[in-house]
Amino acid sequence: MQITIIGTGYVGIVAAVCLAKLGHNVTAMDRESVIQSLQSNKAHVWEPGLQELLTECNEEGNLHFDADMASATANADALLIAVGTPTRADGHTDLSQIENVLEQLKQSGNCPPLVIVKSTVPVGTCDELEANLHGAGLRADVVFNPEFLRQGSAINDFMYPDRIVFGCQSRHSEIMLRQIYQGIDAPIQVCDRRSAELIKYASNTFLAMKISFANMMADLCEGYGADIRQVMKGVGTDRRIGPHFLQAGVGYGGSCFSKDLQSLLTSGKVIGRSLPLLEATAQINDQRIPQLVVKLISLWENPNGKRLGVLGISFKPNTNDVRDAPFLTLLKLCQHHRIDVHAYDPVVQQVAFEGVTVADSPYEMAAHSDAIILMTEWPQFVELDWVRMVQLMRQSILLDGRNVLSDEVVAQLMELDGVTYVPVGR
Ligand code: UGA
Repeated sequence: MQITIIGTGYVGIVAAVCLAKLGHNVTAMDRESVIQSLQSNKAHVWEPGLQELLTECNEEGNLHFDADMASATANADALLIAVGTPTRADGHTDLSQIENVLEQLKQSGNCPPLVIVKSTVPVGTCDELEANLHGAGLRADVVFNPEFLRQGSAINDFMYPDRIVFGCQSRHSEIMLRQIYQGIDAPIQVCDRRSAELIKYASNTFLAMKISFANMMADLCEGYGADIRQVMKGVGTDRRIGPHFLQAGVGYGGSCFSKDLQSLLTSGKVIGRSLPLLEATAQINDQRIPQLVVKLISLWENPNGKRLGVLGISFKPNTNDVRDAPFLTLLKLCQHHRIDVHAYDPVVQQVAFEGVTVADSPYEMAAHSDAIILMTEWPQFVELDWVRMVQLMRQSILLDGRNVLSDEVVAQLMELDGVTYVPVGR
C-alpha cells in the first residue's frame, strides 16, 4: 500500500520505518530541514534501533521523504497524520497543526481516500475533520488509530503492541486498516471514532493514575516505616492489577501524561463533568519534586551555594527528550534556593536552560557535590562505582529518586563514614 505520513516526530518517524519494514511504500512528510536530514539517512529523533531501521529502509528503497503536500500525497492510498497536538495555556488542545494539514489538503485539491489520525485528539475531532473534508468536496474516510508507543522502546511497541485500535465508521476503512497492519500479530479492536479517541486519553491517564497511586503510598510507607517496593510487589502480583507502572519515584514526566491529563480535564469541563481522580493524580505528581527538595534541604543547614549532582536529565531512560522532565522542575527550585546544579545524562549533552552545568561523566558530576539525586533509572547509573562516587563528593548524601540502587550496594555504602542514603517510600 502507498502510505503518506505527515509529521516525523517520534510517532511519525517510527510509524514510517515500521510500515516500510512491513512492506508498504511510505512517504514521510515534514518541513524541509527535517526532510534533508532524513534524506541523508540521519535520524533526527534519538530512539533505540531507529537509525538502523532507517538505514535499512533507505537501502530497500521503499521509504521516501518529501516536504511538499501535493507531491507527497499524489498517489497515496492512505494519509497518516502524526503531527503535534500540544495543550494550550487554557487547557484546550491546540489543533492548529492538524488544521494546517487540512488546509494544505484542500489547497492541493487532492486527498487520499483514507485519512488516519494518529495524533492524540479530543473526542469528536475526527468527526469534525471528516465533515470539514467532505464540505470541501474531498471524499475521504477519517479514522482514529491511537498510538501506544513509549519513547525508548517505540519500535518494539509498534511491532509488538498489546492491541491495535481502529476507530472507524465504515467497513471499507476497516478493511484498509487491516491491510496496513497485516504482519503485526496483535488483537484488533474496532469501535466508533469517539470511543477510540477516548481510549487513548483513558489509557494514558490511567497509567499516570497508577504512578501517582504508587507515589501516594510511598509517602505513607515513609511515615509508617514500610517498604514501597514490597507493598507494590504484593499489590502488582494480583493479575487484576498488574505489576506495571507502580514504580514510586520522582513522578512522571514527558510530553504525554501531563498533556493528556490536562486535555481530558478540559474535555470534562466542556460538558460540565469534574474528573476528581485526574485532579488528584496531577496534584500528587506536582508535589513529587518539591517534596524531594524539602527533604534535601532538611539534610543541609543552608542550601545557599551548595552543589547538587543530578544523574539523569531526560524524562526517562533511553531517550534524550527533556519535555516536561522532572529535572526541569528540580532545576527551577534549585535556582530559587541558589543551589548550584551539575548534571550528567548518557544522551543529553546540552540543556537549553540557565543555571546548570552538564558534566562529561558521572564522576566529574559527583566531584565536590554536596548531594546527588538519581532522577532516571538508566542501567549504567546502577552499575556505577558508587564507592568511588561518594568518595569524590564533598558531602555524601545520596537521594535515590527511583529506588534503583541494590541492597548490596547500599550496604557497602553504609559501611563508609558519613554516607546518607535517602530512597523513596522506605
Ligand atoms: C506514554 C505511554 O506509556 C504510551 O503508551 C503512550 O503511547 C505515550 O505516553 C504517548 O502518549 O505518546 P512515554 O511518555 O513515552 O509513554 O513513557 P512512559 O514509559 O509511559 O513513562 C512516562 C513517565 O512515567 C516517565 O517519566 C517515567 O519515568 C514515569 N514512570 C513510569 C514512573 O514514574 N513509574 C512507573 O512505574 C512507570
